[in-house]
Amino acid sequence: MFNKINNCHNTKDFRKLAKRKLPGPIFHYIDGAADDEVTYRRNTEAYEQCDLIPNVLSGVENIDMSTTVMGQKIDMPIYLSPTALQRLFHHDGEKAVGKAAEKFGTMFGISSLATVSIEEIAQKIKTPKLFQLYVHKDKGLNKNMIDRCKESKFEALAITVDTIVGGNRERDLYTGFTSPPKLTLKSLMSFATHPSWVFNYLTHPSFELSQLKNYIGEGTDISVSIGDYFTKVIDQSLDWKAAEEINKYWGKHFALKGIMSVEDAKRAIDIGATAIIISNHGGRQLDGSRSPFDQLAEIVDAVGDKIDVICDGGIRRGTHVLKALSLGAKACSGGRFYLYALAAGGQKGVEKALSNFHSEIKRDMQLMGVTNIDQLTRKNIIFR
Ligand SMILES: Cc1cc2nc3c(=O)[nH]c(=O)nc-3n(C[C@H](O)[C@H](O)[C@H](O)COP(=O)(O)O)c2cc1C
Repeated sequence: MFNKINNCHNTKDFRKLAKRKLPGPIFHYIDGAADDEVTYRRNTEAYEQCDLIPNVLSGVENIDMSTTVMGQKIDMPIYLSPTALQRLFHHDGEKAVGKAAEKFGTMFGISSLATVSIEEIAQKIKTPKLFQLYVHKDKGLNKNMIDRCKESKFEALAITVDTIVGGNRERDLYTGFTSPPKLTLKSLMSFATHPSWVFNYLTHPSFELSQLKNYIGEGTDISVSIGDYFTKVIDQSLDWKAAEEINKYWGKHFALKGIMSVEDAKRAIDIGATAIIISNHGGRQLDGSRSPFDQLAEIVDAVGDKIDVICDGGIRRGTHVLKALSLGAKACSGGRFYLYALAAGGQKGVEKALSNFHSEIKRDMQLMGVTNIDQLTRKNIIFR
């Protein structure tokens, strides 16, 4: 009964369906995290160790859940974090995700490791777009990506700062996952038992990392693990000065994705960022690092009046969003919640995942007795 998108009522349902639809190495690339996956689990568990306190009799027939982040008004307080390699999860990849985001009026994050070009996305998706820059050693490539985003009028740029080397994603080591996928003895059975995935992969335009293919063979023509990719081509000399220069060159809304400490949150303001995305990359990098939700209040208290604070990762329910907003986040963002849905059913799947969140957030706000998200405050939440 779970093979229908309409029967997917939450992220767990989509995860189950994605697991059935994808060859093992690809499913585990999405689902997996670093080392013992402690941080990955904590990212969600943290939301379950505090409770919401509702008020009643508040007249809640009209709900406005919109918010403004990085200068963009979005219709719901959760947006789609940038994620790599989307055409491996469904042949429509970023086009499907972008269209679903557009339909729900929320922001679409596009990874440097996207499989559709910046220009095609800009031409197809008219709602706010955030480009995520991995700062590569090749400065010409970095400039090229930024220039293309400027030309294509992307609204915001985020540099990801928590992937200075690749995380130790052991599931990928066991399955032999690479980009592009490589058929090995280990993975043969898994691909053979998913013929519709193989058919779609072979009958749609060839897989590529659209922004990188003219600069780097790895990822498009040469199979590489994502961990090795980061370690080999990402600029490990990246520092605050370089981030500031990138921001100046970009000249529009600018975010740092992967900020975890109060000290770094303050430095982000000093270099002129308009937002920080509190994130540990969905537990895929430093296992043992704190969860974004656990770290949120401290960062909001220090910088929340000067910069947009976004809480990223671990979000699986509308109440998780309400809890982050109650602590002072401007919005939330997430990856797996829509990637499972993409794998489960392309654009329709992502639309259903966003629709689930939309109805949960609306219902939860009504049950909390608030009509807009500014009414959610620390008075609404208590830690056990
Ligand atoms: C399959 C996958 C690919 C990802 N690729 C990128 C990426 O290319 N760039 C980036 O900044 N973050 C990437 N992330 C991290 C997400 O942007 C986001 O921080 C993370 O998914 C949040 O955790 P959640 O999946 O629990 O919501 C990726 C995450 C996943 C699951």
